[in-house]
Amino acid sequence: MMYFDNGATTFPKPPSVVRAVNSALQVYGGNPGRGGHRMAVRAGEVIYRCRENAAALFGAENPENIIFTDSCTTALNIVLHGLLQRGDHVVLSSLEHNAVVRPLHYLVKTRGVRLSVAEVAEGDDEQTLQSFRKAINGDTKLVVCTAASNVFGVRLPIERIAALCRIYGILFCVDAAQGAGVVPLRVAASGIDFLCAAGHKGLYGPMGTGILVINSDTLPAPLTQGGTGSLSRSPEQPNELPDKYESGTPNLPGIAGLNAGIRFVSARGEAHLLRTEIQLLRRLYDGLAQMPEVQLYTQPPAAETHVPVLSFNLRGCDCEEVAALLDRRFAIAVRAGLHCAPAAHRAYGTASTGTVRAVVSAYTNLSQINAFLFAVNKITKLLPKKVAIEEQNVVK
Ligand code: ALA
Repeated sequence: MMYFDNGATTFPKPPSVVRAVNSALQVYGGNPGRGGHRMAVRAGEVIYRCRENAAALFGAENPENIIFTDSCTTALNIVLHGLLQRGDHVVLSSLEHNAVVRPLHYLVKTRGVRLSVAEVAEGDDEQTLQSFRKAINGDTKLVVCTAASNVFGVRLPIERIAALCRIYGILFCVDAAQGAGVVPLRVAASGIDFLCAAGHKGLYGPMGTGILVINSDTLPAPLTQGGTGSLSRSPEQPNELPDKYESGTPNLPGIAGLNAGIRFVSARGEAHLLRTEIQLLRRLYDGLAQMPEVQLYTQPPAAETHVPVLSFNLRGCDCEEVAALLDRRFAIAVRAGLHCAPAAHRAYGTASTGTVRAVVSAYTNLSQINAFLFAVNKITKLLPKKVAIEEQNVVK
C-alpha cells in the first residue's frame, strides 16, 4: 500500500515507536504513579521523560505544563469548555476543523458564547492579521485557530497572531493537529497560551494520544475529576499541573510510543522535516497541475506558507470515487470528502464536492509521488468515460 493519508494519521510509525509500545506492554507495564514497585516506577519515569521531551519540543517552561489527553480534540475541549463563560466572545479562523467549531457551537447554544470568524487570506499574512484585528472586540476572551488547515495545508501566521493577542490581552489557543511535528511552535517564546496537538499525526505516536501544552496562569476548569495517584485523602481535585487534568490511569503504551515519536521528530527537526516533505509535495502539485482534468485549489506549496497537505479534484468526478479507485486499482490510500472541516471547504468553494486529499510524511518517497501521478493520470482516462456513459443512460 502507498500511504498518502498521513493527515488522518501517519503511517508507518518509526520502528522506535513500535519498540517503545511493545516494551510498555511486555516489559514494565505497571500503573504509573499508582504504586511503589519497580514496574510502576519505571512506567512513571517513561511518562515523565515524554513530558520532558514534549516540553523541549514545544518550548514549554516546565514538563508539568504538558498534559496528556486521548486526542487533540479532547485537549481543545478542555480549553474551550473550561475557559468560556456566558457572554464571552471568541475569534476563530475560517479554516477551522470541527474539533474547534463543534465545541464552540455547543457553547454558543448553552452559554451564549459569541463568535466572530477571521478570514484567512492564503499567502497574505498581512491581510489575515487584519481580519483577526477586525474580529477582536472589547469582550473577546480567546482567539483560537489552527496552525495549518488539515484540508488545504495553508499555514496561519501563528507568531503574529500570538503577538496581536498579547497586545490586546487576549488568551490564544492553537490547534496544532496538523502543524505539530512540521511547524516549529514554541509556546513560551511566542506567547501561545494553549497549544493542542495530536500525538498520532506529525508526532508519529500511536492513536489515542494527544497533548495540551499550558503556558498561562489562567487555567481552564478540568473536564474530569478522579484519581490522580496524588493527594488521595482529599475529595478535591488537585490544582497542580498536570494532575488537575489527568484523572484516571494514563495511556502508558501510547505515551511511551509518543515519547519515541517526539524523539524521532526532535532528532530530525521540524524545519528539516517540513522542507523535505514540502519538496515532495511540490513535485506532486506540479505533476497534477500539468493534467488539465485536475483542479487544484491552493497556490504552489512552499515551506513558509504550507504544511505538506494537498487537496484536489478531477473535474466532473466524485472525490469519493477517485479515492476508491486509487485504493482498489493502485493501492494508494487517501482521504476524500470534507475531512471533518466543512468551514475550510466553504472557504475554498468545495463544500458541495469535497476534495481528494494527499498528505506526505517523513516516510514518503519520490517513487511513491511518481506512482501517485501515474495513477491519477490513468484515472483521468477512466472516470470521465464512466461519467459520460452514465449521462447517456440517464438520457435514454
Ligand atoms: N482530523 C483528521 C483528518 O484531517 C482525522 O483527517
